[in-house]
This record gives sequence, C-alpha cells and structure tokens, in this order.
Amino acid sequence: MSTDIDFSSLPFGYFKTDYNARAYYKDGRWSEPEYTTDEQLSIHMASTCLHYGQECFEGLKAFCGKDGVIRIFRLEENAKRLVHSARGICMAPVPVEMFITMCKQVIRLNKKYIPPFGAGASLYLRPYLLGTAAQVGVSPSTEYFFGVFCSPVGPYFKDGFKPVRMQIVRDFDRAAPYGTGTYKVGGNYAASLQALVRAKAEGYSSVFFLDAKEKKYIDEAGPANFFGIKNGQYITPRSSSILRSITNMSLRELAGDMDLAVIERPVTVEELTDFSEAGACGTAAVITPVKEIVDREVRTSYRFGDGEHAGPITTALYERLMGIQNGELDDKFNWNTILD
Ligand SMILES: Cc1ncc(COP(=O)(O)O)c(C=O)c1O
Repeated sequence: MSTDIDFSSLPFGYFKTDYNARAYYKDGRWSEPEYTTDEQLSIHMASTCLHYGQECFEGLKAFCGKDGVIRIFRLEENAKRLVHSARGICMAPVPVEMFITMCKQVIRLNKKYIPPFGAGASLYLRPYLLGTAAQVGVSPSTEYFFGVFCSPVGPYFKDGFKPVRMQIVRDFDRAAPYGTGTYKVGGNYAASLQALVRAKAEGYSSVFFLDAKEKKYIDEAGPANFFGIKNGQYITPRSSSILRSITNMSLRELAGDMDLAVIERPVTVEELTDFSEAGACGTAAVITPVKEIVDREVRTSYRFGDGEHAGPITTALYERLMGIQNGELDDKFNWNTILD
C-alpha cells in the first residue's frame, strides 16, 4: 500500500494512477465495464462531444479514515446527478448501479493512491460521459463513452480552510435561466474561464456569477455554490441556473441539525451586507470561507469576519462535514459508502 508520494503537499490536479474504468454504449445498450492502465482515449474525430459539447461529468471524493476504512462521500447522489446532466443534454444516462460499480472498482485498483488519514488530501474521482458517434449534423449522439479515473488531490484553494477574496463579475454570465446551469456540462466551465482567469490575475481566488437575466441575485462561483450566515440562518441561493451542489445539500442538513434556520431563496447582492459569514462550498472547495467579495463593476466591497479566520458557524460546519467524511463523526445521515 505504500508509495513515496508526499500526500500532504498535493495540489488539486491530475496525478497519474494505475487504472481507469471504461464502458461503451452502442445499439441502445451499455457494455460491461473494462479496467485499463491506458491514459489515452481513441475517439472518432467527428464525435459529438468534440463539436457540440455533448459531455458531462461528476466529481466526488473517497477518504481514508483513522480506522483505515475507505469512505466514498455521497456516491449515489453523484450517480443521480450524472443522470440529470445526461438527460439535460440528450445523452444516454449511465445506470446508477454501473456508475457505483465502476467508481468502487477504480478506487480498489488504485488503493495505494488513497491519501492516508491526516494528510489533508483525498482521492478525487472523475466520472465522465462523452457522445462518441461520428456526426456532423447537430443531433444527439447514438453512441457514448463513460469513463472513471481518479487522482489523489489536495485542497482546491491553495490555502485550504483559510478565508479568501472573491470577485463578483457583471460582464460575463456562466449560465442562462433556461440554459444548462443545473447540468454539470463542460460548456458551463468554458463559459466561466475568461472571468476566472481575469479574477485570478486581479488577485482573487475565484468569481461569483450573478443571475444572467436581472444581474441582481448571486448565482454561484465557477466551481462552488454560495452560502451566507446571518442571525442564526444558513442562506443559500435558489436559482434555475446553478448546479445543485451535493456539498451544499449536505451542509443544509448539517445546519438544520445545528439548529440554524435553513433558507434557500434568491439572494441579492445587496444582502451581502447583512451576512456575518460567507463561504463557497463544493467537493473540490469543501468549504472555503470568504473574507471579502468585491463587486468589480460597481466598485463595492463586502467583508465578512475578522479577515483572518473563518467564522464560528462556517468552522463548525466544516468540522462536522470533514468529521463525517473521514469517519471521526457518526455518519448519522448515511452519506458514506464503505468500500468493501
Ligand atoms: C459549478 C459548480 N457549482 C457547484 C459545485 C459543487 O458541487 P458539489 O458539492 O456537488 O461538488 C461544483 C462542483 O464541485 C461546480 O462545478
């Protein structure tokens, strides 16, 4: 099981492991999964994923506990969201059971890459679905490829659980109200890149996009949902153009369990003034506390907390989430799948 990887200094990035999983959809049926050491794909140059964006994916993590048990966080929810994304862009959905089998097997085959307890790292799984039929006209593919690979990863935001600065952008939209925002499709990330690159160059960790129609409400960050805390309330945006974050879903349950009122509704930019704490949440971001949000075009700044430490509720949520993921706290909501 031992490797010479320095798990405690891993970035959030691709790291070569031994095996990845693959399955093929043709003539209305999925093949049996295959497991391979090949990192390359061979697909037709006219594949719909390459030209018309017929591509969707997932991101989830497996953790090694102090007890040596491997726990996969909310595996089935991720499988179900891939079905939602696939249907959203007219792709053949991956059966939930097949998704689960392939993810588990990829973890088993790459066990030596699972970061040990305490390293501040985890094994990130990347399931992805591609339209692969050779087509030139715009229409849904008749053939699909589903793959799963994994990579040991460290924190997405390089400082881990330290408050970051974020930027609101008004001159870019990530997704439209009736667009593809609720699906985890590559096009949404392509649409976020210009704003993200600029924000990083201007000294911010990431951006918050606003609702594309009115430019009044907070939608979400490029890779994470938004939440704010005020007067014992956990408040998070409701919007038809954001990804339904499984981390956020979990934090809502944890917040309720901590006797906070949990509120999901449109959140205006002006309301940021009222929050005592703010954060971004997602599989990669985990919970990233936010110390400042700058509304770039309006030239307004909103600050949260003392600028150095995460607030008490954000910290409590983080500790509970991490505690459940690594097995130190009771998994009372039944979120973990134990790898057998
Ligand atoms: C756009 C976007 N929003 C939110 C999230 C968070 O979702 P989850 O908590 O399911 O990882 C992600 C992915 O991590 C994302 O890419």
